[in-house]
Amino acid sequence: MRKLITTMCFIFSIVAGALSAAPIEIKFSHVVAENTPKGKMAIRFKKLVEQRLPGKVKVSVFPNAQLFNDDRVLEAIILGDVQLAAPSLSKLETYTKKFQIFDLPFLFDDMQAVDRFQQSKEGQKLLASLESKGLTGLGYLHNGMKQLSANDPLFAPADAKGKKFRIMASDVLAAQFQVVNAHPVKKPFSEVFTLLQTKAIDGQENTWSNIYSKKFFEVQSHITETDHGVLDYIVVTSKEFWSGLPDEIRPIVEKSLQEAIDYGNKVALEKDEQDKLAIITSKKSKVIELSSAQRQQWKQAMAPVWKEFQDEIGADLIKAAQEANQVN
Ligand code: LMR
Repeated sequence: MRKLITTMCFIFSIVAGALSAAPIEIKFSHVVAENTPKGKMAIRFKKLVEQRLPGKVKVSVFPNAQLFNDDRVLEAIILGDVQLAAPSLSKLETYTKKFQIFDLPFLFDDMQAVDRFQQSKEGQKLLASLESKGLTGLGYLHNGMKQLSANDPLFAPADAKGKKFRIMASDVLAAQFQVVNAHPVKKPFSEVFTLLQTKAIDGQENTWSNIYSKKFFEVQSHITETDHGVLDYIVVTSKEFWSGLPDEIRPIVEKSLQEAIDYGNKVALEKDEQDKLAIITSKKSKVIELSSAQRQQWKQAMAPVWKEFQDEIGADLIKAAQEANQVN
């Protein structure tokens, strides 16, 4: 009997040893193509972490909504089904209304202003604000400014009248199209191409890199360069997973993530130019450049959205974001 117990203890210690040596798995789920700022950032993160923590941490990246769609990924993080995601800031509405600030049309002059706001005291406070929901915001990641595509040329707000535009799940974005008498349709990113191709919708808003990598330009006759809003991401994990990481592992994961984000931001800048050029060169979709007077018309038409959401977002936060447009 004693021999049996000794043998069992021995087997148990081997199994326990093997289990404790198993690498920590980080599943990173996202919805875009690999050849995008987010796609490339995720691959860079995997490479850096696995180089620095060989056998200790394993990263599996699932692009193109292979694992979870937009509407499910945050829930999946909280449930522990995946450990990392980088949803667009427009998709946090069910968790907190504060991030709606990023959807206000014509708020930021350019991506440098977006960056200044994100790195400001207010931006960092926002990043930390998901803790009470069980989520830890690890950083912001850029994609770029949004453009409007449709199957007709859109020069003035009146040209959008009556058209159906796919939007991300955000009430601010819905209001933005309603004020120009268009019809917003909330749909996941993975459905956009088919909706456009089958003409179930007339248009959509997105960045150059998303329009290019998902081939929206092949099924839209025109793209108007409006730069009317920003599409950026929050890199997010669950509070439980993050605090449960061993103390000698967490800083290395965090450093790798920061470096991957810096790289992703560089890619975002480059792709914005490159992918716009590739679309123009393809001649599959005509790119419309607005005069400053035409752009001003869109800005004016969409201005009432700010008032509508001012109370929910907070006038002080809007002011802080506007101040980011000024270079100190
Ligand atoms: C979209 O749904 O249009 C974007 O959020 C997709 C993405 O992650 O860039």
